[in-house]
Amino acid sequence: MMFATELLVGGLLAASTVLGAALTRVEYPNNATSKAQMWVYVPDKAVANPPIIVVIHSCQSSAESYSRNSKIPWKQGSDKKGYITVWPSAPNSCWDVSSPRSLKNGGGGDSQAISNMIVHALDKYKGDPARVFVTGGSSGGMMSNVLAATYPYLISAVSLYSGVPAGCFVSSSGGVAQWNNSCSGGSSRATPEAWGNVVRAMYPGYAGARPRMQVWHGSADGTLAPQNYQETIKQWTNVFGYPQTAVSSVKNFPERNYQTDNYGDHLQGIYATGVGHSVPSNLTASEQWFGL
Ligand SMILES: *[C@@H]1O[C@H](CO)[C@@H](O)[C@H](O)[C@H]1NC(C)=O
Ligand SMILES: *[C@@H]1O[C@H](CO)[C@@H](O)[C@H](O)[C@H]1NC(C)=O
Ligand SMILES: *[C@@H]1O[C@H](CO)[C@@H](O)[C@H](O)[C@H]1NC(C)=O
Repeated sequence: MMFATELLVGGLLAASTVLGAALTRVEYPNNATSKAQMWVYVPDKAVANPPIIVVIHSCQSSAESYSRNSKIPWKQGSDKKGYITVWPSAPNSCWDVSSPRSLKNGGGGDSQAISNMIVHALDKYKGDPARVFVTGGSSGGMMSNVLAATYPYLISAVSLYSGVPAGCFVSSSGGVAQWNNSCSGGSSRATPEAWGNVVRAMYPGYAGARPRMQVWHGSADGTLAPQNYQETIKQWTNVFGYPQTAVSSVKNFPERNYQTDNYGDHLQGIYATGVGHSVPSNLTASEQWFGL
């Protein structure tokens, strides 16, 4: 008998060690038309009033597969620092960054679904509303820009990798989750003011705080032309009223052949010479940008 009990206890302990924290699908109050799924990773040692980090996947991916990608180290960061990561999963193969639903505050698209996930995460995990952060690569980088434009009041800072300006993938026919060759190829160019107007039009009349933006791009990006880096910088410099030239630059930082350009406390660009699509996430540098 005793032997059997010991075996049972030992088995339970082993099972709980093996199970531990895991990416889990969570239902959330969602008033958007988009039925994007919400997945969450709560580390075993979550801190009180945890920061919430939204990690947005690329095309032909999902919350589950992105969270297993070795170049996307946010689960490990969560284990180490105790913040919670929210992993939205797109209803289409890419995020909808082309239709009016998604390109507008309250439009009902994927961006609104993700905003609902942020609200729910803050409520369910008693998250810190002053420490909500967004990151993503490629299509997730595009969505990061769109979220910053459509739901600025929910987000403190963004660190986005290899995306395009907010609104650059707009579909002339209003299509959902459409690819846009003009933008991806780097031919969608506009003045800083025109790009800034695109952001302002996504939430007309908004005059509150906006997230601090960190923009990464590789010079050898063959999927989303490097010109999209310059266009994104033009966009946010205009929104923040910064000059077009960086106020300070650091060569070979945070890595060799990367250059960091600071435009003001709300905008930093990091251009990776020789790096293709998509620039791997640098957990340390993104966490630093988030103040974690
Ligand atoms: C959707 O829900 C959010 C809160 O999660 C709320 O702020 C917003 O007003 C709602 N929108 C509509 C159209 O009901
Ligand atoms: C692609 O996006 C640009 C803006 O970046 C827009 O002017 C153009 O109409 C879009 N193309 C299509 C086919 O929707
Ligand atoms: C990431 O950035 C930090 C500085 O924030 C730097 O020290 C580190 O070398 C970078 N990581 C990699 C893998 O290059």
